[in-house]
Amino acid sequence: MRLLNAILCLLPIAIKARDTDELVPFAYEPLPLGSITPNGWLRTELEASAAGLGGHLYDFYRYVANSSWIGGDQEYSGLNEALPYWLNAIVPLSYTLQDDRLKADIKTVVSKILDLIQPDGWIGPETLEAGNRLIWARTLVFLGFTNLVDADPESYEEPIINALFRFNELMNSMLKNNGTGMIYHDGDKASAGDFTWFRSRSQDMEVADREWPFLHGVTVAEALKYAAVFRRSTHNDSLITTAKNGVDWTFKYHGSASGSILADERLAGLNPFYGSELCTEVEAIYSLAYNYFAIGDPDYADRTELAAFNALPAAMWPDWTSHQYMTESNQPFSKNLSASPFWNVNTVGQTFGVEPNYPCCTVNHPQGLPKFTMYSFLKNGNNGLVHALLSPGKVNTKINDKEVTIDCQTDYPFNTSLSYTINSETPFEFYLRVPQWSTGIKINQQPSPINSRTGLTKVRIRSGKTTLNYDIGMDIQTKSRANDTIAVYRGPILYSLYIDPITTSGPPHYYGTQQEWPEGTYPPQMQDHSMANGTEWNVAIDPSTLTFHSGSGPLPSPTFDDGKLPMYVTAQACLIDWPLFKGSVPASPPAKEDRVCLGDSFVATLRPYGSSKLHMSDLPTIDLGG
Ligand SMILES: *[C@@H]1O[C@H](CO)[C@@H](O)[C@H](O)[C@H]1NC(C)=O
Ligand SMILES: *[C@@H]1O[C@H](CO)[C@@H](O)[C@H](O)[C@H]1NC(C)=O
Ligand SMILES: *[C@@H]1O[C@H](CO)[C@@H](O)[C@H](O)[C@H]1NC(C)=O
Ligand SMILES: *[C@@H]1O[C@H](CO)[C@@H](O)[C@H](O)[C@H]1NC(C)=O
Ligand SMILES: *[C@@H]1O[C@H](CO)[C@@H](O)[C@H](O)[C@H]1NC(C)=O
Ligand SMILES: *[C@@H]1O[C@H](CO)[C@@H](O)[C@H](O)[C@H]1NC(C)=O
Ligand SMILES: *[C@@H]1O[C@H](CO)[C@@H](O)[C@H](O)[C@H]1NC(C)=O
Repeated sequence: MRLLNAILCLLPIAIKARDTDELVPFAYEPLPLGSITPNGWLRTELEASAAGLGGHLYDFYRYVANSSWIGGDQEYSGLNEALPYWLNAIVPLSYTLQDDRLKADIKTVVSKILDLIQPDGWIGPETLEAGNRLIWARTLVFLGFTNLVDADPESYEEPIINALFRFNELMNSMLKNNGTGMIYHDGDKASAGDFTWFRSRSQDMEVADREWPFLHGVTVAEALKYAAVFRRSTHNDSLITTAKNGVDWTFKYHGSASGSILADERLAGLNPFYGSELCTEVEAIYSLAYNYFAIGDPDYADRTELAAFNALPAAMWPDWTSHQYMTESNQPFSKNLSASPFWNVNTVGQTFGVEPNYPCCTVNHPQGLPKFTMYSFLKNGNNGLVHALLSPGKVNTKINDKEVTIDCQTDYPFNTSLSYTINSETPFEFYLRVPQWSTGIKINQQPSPINSRTGLTKVRIRSGKTTLNYDIGMDIQTKSRANDTIAVYRGPILYSLYIDPITTSGPPHYYGTQQEWPEGTYPPQMQDHSMANGTEWNVAIDPSTLTFHSGSGPLPSPTFDDGKLPMYVTAQACLIDWPLFKGSVPASPPAKEDRVCLGDSFVATLRPYGSSKLHMSDLPTIDLGG
């Protein structure tokens, strides 16, 4: 699937080069990278990423600083994908923040990549003689390249477009030559519409190797956009249903309450001790956002926000200096486990660190929020703009060649209110996305009609300055999870049982040998962390007692500082007998009939999942007569 995806990412370029069929237009056209800059909490988080691990990989991380792509010899796998993942992420990070330090890193790296282009036009370190030329990692480089051309055409358009035209001819000849450059699995022979697999095989744990591309969580997350991409060149509208089924079935059978896909690293069902890989989370954010702007189905936008506001921040250390490889839905500790509950993730995969378990998420994680930001505002036809992924941000663009800026100040999703200041040289239509969970909306205190197909409400903006206020009703909502558990939401925020951490921090460990990095080889703030539970986790709640508390005071900085966001939910609760799986992590939630209170009931506190590094999101229910 990854390879199909890889090819499809390149198809638009290939087709333009042949100057034949038009691509199916996007439902909502993205704006060039750099048109949107973040405000408020989103800026806080992106700046933390730039100041943290992601933004410093080129300074100290061997697989980036000494990548074979720029003359070194450090690679974690024969796919040579580390620097490509970095470029795919750091290009949108640096241009949404207008960060000159990172832009300079990109300039150095891109000019090295272009200098090292081989005589036959191959981009990348793999030589014809070595016979190791795979197309895959180039798709990541080209995503970075194409965004760079949009963001800074003066510097990059000519050299990059020339290089891509040459490369496309070479790639075309390779692919014609019996698919040279593709990564082959038998499973890849399945057709584009073959998402039916999810229905028939989702619970089958004994799967043959040949089905790996359909089981590998990151590949599946990347492939969620496959049908939408393929439709652009085939003009086959039944792919809209294919995309929808692929996404719906993936999340129905393998979705976490936090909006990601549970896969350890194999799709594994809904058990809350399975984890979601950070790479899966950021790829899901990008794919779901892509499906939204390509197809326009509002469900994709809701899913994008859910993953971006919950799954992603939960996996990051609050100041973005370390990350988890794997986040479990029910995770009361984050430590070197006595046994791994996972299929092929080691005992430190769910700790926070520089490179726990495997380096891919170290280099891939910084793409998540920048891509979310890039697609937060979209164009709607010639005369409209959409606030698609609701968040604080500013867009600077043109409509019919006239300047338009929209400045959105908000604490959404932590607050129900968004304020806009618009300066425009032309009248235009401004569309606001209405989340499907909303209990009602108001524009400037007045109800506003919602288009049921698009999920948008329209506001006509005159030229000059306009201010407007958008209020979205939020309420506590619960969703049933497996084995008589529930997940608790208010708006797009997942609330999970908060467990006080007892944290120990120290030097990073190498992912392979698990030895400490020598002093001086890493920035001192980049540490590995281990967390023990400081409170009990074997808690059942009475859902009839769920109560929201807004708290007070400004959002913390960093936003998802552990336990610090002011809003929380309480519920009447009691401790139940809940054994461990393999003696290491909470087993499947106990059956409903076996739940007996071990003592008196008490009030449990549920906090936003992203700010609860130790959490239980899939909560057993119990009737406390309350
Ligand atoms: C890169 O390689 C050089 C030469 O081997 C070495 O001196 C340097 O420490 C390496 N840098 C990183 C970040 O690993
Ligand atoms: C074409 O590629 C397939 C898959 O790698 C391989 O099985 C087959 O032998 C190749 N055919 C030729 C003619 O090289
Ligand atoms: C359109 O896509 C569907 C779903 O993948 C497929 O079954 C069908 O054959 C395609 N139609 C054409 C004309 O290619
Ligand atoms: C539900 O509970 C049963 C019995 O403990 C267990 O085998 C199963 O894996 C659980 N399913 C999930 C999704 O937690
Ligand atoms: C939400 O934002 C509005 C407008 O900035 C502010 O007046 C209100 O106090 C905020 N509500 C909460 C619960 O923080
Ligand atoms: C985790 O524990 C295992 C087994 O006790 C040990 O070999 C390994 O070094 C530990 N890893 C880290 C990062 O401490
Ligand atoms: C942490 O969880 C364990 C069970 O895994 C429990 O025995 C212990 O009491 C908890 N620690 C605290 C401080 O509550």
